[in-house]
Amino acid sequence: MKLKTLGEFIIDRQQDFPGSSGDLSRIISAIRLASKIVSQQVNKAGLARHILGGAGTENIQGEAQQKLDVYADERFIEALNNRGNVCGIGSEENDDFIELNKDGKYIILMDPLDGSSNIDVNVSIGTIFSVCKRKTEVGKSVELKDFLQAGDDQVAAGYVLYGSSTMMVYTTGNGVNGFTYDPGIGVFFLSHPNMTFPKENKIYSMNEGNYNKSSKGIQDYIDYCQEVDEKTNRPHTGRYIGSLVADFHRNLIKGGIYMYPATTSSPNGKLRLLYECNPLAFLTEQAGGKATDGKQRIMEIKPTQLHQRVPYFVGNTEMVEKLESFIAKE
Ligand code: AHG
Ligand code: MN
Ligand code: MN
Repeated sequence: MKLKTLGEFIIDRQQDFPGSSGDLSRIISAIRLASKIVSQQVNKAGLARHILGGAGTENIQGEAQQKLDVYADERFIEALNNRGNVCGIGSEENDDFIELNKDGKYIILMDPLDGSSNIDVNVSIGTIFSVCKRKTEVGKSVELKDFLQAGDDQVAAGYVLYGSSTMMVYTTGNGVNGFTYDPGIGVFFLSHPNMTFPKENKIYSMNEGNYNKSSKGIQDYIDYCQEVDEKTNRPHTGRYIGSLVADFHRNLIKGGIYMYPATTSSPNGKLRLLYECNPLAFLTEQAGGKATDGKQRIMEIKPTQLHQRVPYFVGNTEMVEKLESFIAKE
């Protein structure tokens, strides 16, 4: 068997772009480094008091921060800052963007620890990241407009899943590749080359506790998923972990749709456009799927706020389009 490491893969891809500065490669390897450090802490979260439980603070969205949220945020910022080519970072855990190296050409948007409510119960969690070129001039201070870019402006995006094994999945706009971490030797190996959504319409994922708080179109679609019809392979299988990265990853491998709609208590949905929805939308389209807010392609939305929320529907093209047909009838 031919083994290819993430490091080798990054170098190979860089050679496909002669004259490239290698900036993007440096960013991906910074993320690789931070994810190894976080992965090691995640694996001993149950044992380490300094990692398990609440940090006693809240983020801008009024959500209680877990120690691991803060730990992961710091490790990713540190690793990216060390590479020198990142001028700023927007993170779920920080009210405002953080300015790094004025000479850097790239900004990062990230959810350093996705699925925080699952940390203390030993269930899969993740990290999500998005990379864009800055809009302002190199050498100047970074500004909010550098971060408020549409998903279509992303140059790279991906996630790390801390699951039964740790995996990194990313795209630079040239397909989606997945790497599995071998903690014994500290190396990510290419395990899932050219990932695409299977055609099979199989899984639907939603917090169904929100059924009665959702619109008629969403309720009708859930009812449709549960209907018995052999020809269309229904009922679909219901699966919901409550960590977006983990739910997304499973659906990417098995075929499915993930939904976080607007609800009566969260009229814009729950998930954040810039560091949850956009990066996974970029991966989705690269993997042949579709990501929408129910009316519009996610990656076309022009952001107005760093921590903006949007309704989110993502997965197999056919399943997302079926859902859209129910929303259109509302
Ligand atoms: P985070 O831990 O980064 O705040 O994200 C949590 C998100 C997402 O991962 C998950 O899919 C969703 O919240 C779950 O929300 P519900 O508990 O409302 O279903
Ligand atoms: Mn999240
Ligand atoms: Mn988070």
